[in-house]
Amino acid sequence: MTLWGGRFESSPAQAMAALSRSVGFDWRLAPYEIEVNLVHLSNLIEQSIVTKDDGAKIKAALMELASDIGSGKFKYTPEDEDVHSAIERGLIEKCGPVGGAIRAGRSRNDLVVTDFKLYLVDHLLEVASEVSNLVKAFNAQSEKHLDVIAPGFTHTQHAQPITFAQELSKHSHALLRDIDRVFDWLDRNNLSPFGAGALAGSSIQKDPEKSGVALGFNGAMANSIDAVSDRDFAAEALFIIAMLGVHLSRIGEEFILWSSTEFNWVAIDDAYATGSSIMPQKKNADVAELARGKSGRFIGNLTSLLVVLKAMPFAYNRDLQEDKEPVFDSVDQLLILLPALTGMVATAKFNKAQISKTASSGFSLATEIADFLAKKQIPFSIAHEVAGECVKFCEKSGIELHEITDDQLLKIHPALTKDLRALLNLEGAISSRTSAMATSKKSVSQAVTQLNKEITKVDAEISKHQKRLSGMIRS
Ligand code: ARG
Repeated sequence: MTLWGGRFESSPAQAMAALSRSVGFDWRLAPYEIEVNLVHLSNLIEQSIVTKDDGAKIKAALMELASDIGSGKFKYTPEDEDVHSAIERGLIEKCGPVGGAIRAGRSRNDLVVTDFKLYLVDHLLEVASEVSNLVKAFNAQSEKHLDVIAPGFTHTQHAQPITFAQELSKHSHALLRDIDRVFDWLDRNNLSPFGAGALAGSSIQKDPEKSGVALGFNGAMANSIDAVSDRDFAAEALFIIAMLGVHLSRIGEEFILWSSTEFNWVAIDDAYATGSSIMPQKKNADVAELARGKSGRFIGNLTSLLVVLKAMPFAYNRDLQEDKEPVFDSVDQLLILLPALTGMVATAKFNKAQISKTASSGFSLATEIADFLAKKQIPFSIAHEVAGECVKFCEKSGIELHEITDDQLLKIHPALTKDLRALLNLEGAISSRTSAMATSKKSVSQAVTQLNKEITKVDAEISKHQKRLSGMIRS
């Protein structure tokens, strides 16, 4: 069924209809469409466009339709153009021609963007909740590794020793920013476009604020042309997912490297690994690899929407039908990926001995020597040179920095006195870094406690929103 045709001599060519048809992918907006229709129905009754009796019939039909859609009893047909026309057909089938009254005072232009925004409100909250689970998995692993000293890397080369819990908990911090972006998205975008009509507002919808609040938004948008044109909310959602995807890919990359035979830092649980069809010994980190791989798709989806939006005239253009698939794809993929990645992180077994084994190799204590001299007011440029000489000496002698003797140190520079010894070991190097962000066990332990508090706040915020929306028909 099409929602237009009165002024046309012929029906659409098959090729035209095939191109136009979006119901195959926008059908998932059906619960939102019903919800918006119900709110709109009360507008129509208030404006005496629909009588109370007819209103009751339409409402009953919409409720029945909602349950038939849920159970799969009502489905779209090959003739339906999009979710809007399919639902209107269903409504008229259920309550007769009076159902057609629902179309007054609204347009598919404000309808589609309202449905889409509601979809994103619900699904970004679901994303935030899944990310929270991943943060909790990292926090738990961090708590278990406060006593493990690891080599820290820059350029994938040994740099300075660190507390391994800090290496793990850095992911929690990045992921908390992703969740924060979702809350920030909600603050900015939770305004209803409904009531914009085709573009100019509607003489029948007098109170878009009220409809907006009834739909779970904070209110209505301020300009009807902007309201039907705005897809910033979709692009922002895709950015949130792309950025999160980049974080997930970095987690993936780390687990791939750490689970290699050469590193042997982590054993991925069998439940989150796969084997090879030809090499019986293989255990592959596929979850981590898919995390790395899917980030490409998330970035692609963001790019594809931005390119669709670029230079498009304001108000509705059919190009806008291209806005939904990238968003649905990113949300779907993310909601498949996150539980698997969380499971992998939560069940991973870290090989503490192996992680610590190489922490002091690669001359990772060289900065301690330079800092020691700088604290004796030797200019850092000179201190750096002297520490470099110590490294050169050790390299030639085939020893590590903590193995150098007191005499040898004094020979290299008279300021390299015995008290350097206390710093020239892993514990010394780590425990001297005491600022809140630094790697001492105490700092990291306090940071992890703080992370646990923050995630409790995040969960409370998510359930506050979910509770607020739980009365909605769509939920
Ligand atoms: N299927 C369309 C979309 O996804 C719905 C809106 C169509 N509006 C219109 N004026 N043709 O954007």
